[in-house]
Amino acid sequence: MSVEARIEQALKAALAPVVSPPKLAAALPYAVFPGGARVRPTILLSVALACGDDRPDLSDAAAASLELIHCASLVHDDLPAFDDADTRRGKATVHRAYSEPLAVLAGDSLIVLAFDTISRAAGLAPDRGLALVSTLATRTGAPLGICAGQAWESEQSINLSDYHRAKTGALFIAATRMGAISAGHDPEPWEELGARIGEAFQVADDLKDALQTEAETGKPVGQDAAHMRPNAVARLGVAGAMAHMQNILAGAISSIPSCPGEAHLAQLVTAYARRLTGQPATRPA
Ligand code: IPE
Ligand code: IPE
Ligand code: MG
Ligand code: MG
Repeated sequence: MSVEARIEQALKAALAPVVSPPKLAAALPYAVFPGGARVRPTILLSVALACGDDRPDLSDAAAASLELIHCASLVHDDLPAFDDADTRRGKATVHRAYSEPLAVLAGDSLIVLAFDTISRAAGLAPDRGLALVSTLATRTGAPLGICAGQAWESEQSINLSDYHRAKTGALFIAATRMGAISAGHDPEPWEELGARIGEAFQVADDLKDALQTEAETGKPVGQDAAHMRPNAVARLGVAGAMAHMQNILAGAISSIPSCPGEAHLAQLVTAYARRLTGQPATRPA
């Protein structure tokens, strides 16, 4: 089965038990399907495969749990208390479609469902399972996870790298680490690859926010400037942000730890880096 099919199947299985109350039960799949690029679970499974993927049941659950946390973060990020966005993935945001209380609850439920999903699978290989649960928790909460990253937006002075690393890098670091753990490998050497892809990804997202249209991104654009969010384009300019992204990615491939599927993974990361650096710049700033 392809990586894409594995991710969709694992997400469907994770959401299946939520059948009521009716509006919440509808809001959860609305927030998860159809997906965006599914980049985090794709990285997780690609790393697991590069490490041998000897427990695909575990890596599938890990991939679904990570994407559920990501989807939850988008639901909460779009709320009026955060970015107040009307669209996401080309359709109305969850709070626009279902109400603000249901969007808060849908985000909460997806976070809990993520931990439920990974902890159920953890029984298949308890040592790996515990490490997966704890890695997901570290990269979701504070001080190293998305909660910390979003909270930096409430501070007066922000280091852009720290902010991006927690807001976005955290789930990419979780992706590479959890891929390795699922396959029984040491996660430490995989941290740098996740950190580099994650930081580059957020710079690319900042460039898209400044340069692309809503039709291209499926979500409101010009938001970083409108909300005065610290972002790579404001700090470095368009050319500076592009150069920064290329610098970060240059080290990504050489950071891939030695593993059975190293050469294939290097090809995947190279292709992904090309896509990231090649895509922005269609709307004048
Ligand atoms: C959007 O992430 C949020 C950021 C961290 C920039 P994605 O661009 O991965 O969103 P989807 O899942 O593909 O819609
Ligand atoms: C969102 O960052 C990061 C999250 C933790 C969800 P942004 O606010 O820049 O992402 P978009 O542009 O809404 O996807
Ligand atoms: Mg935001
Ligand atoms: Mg946002």
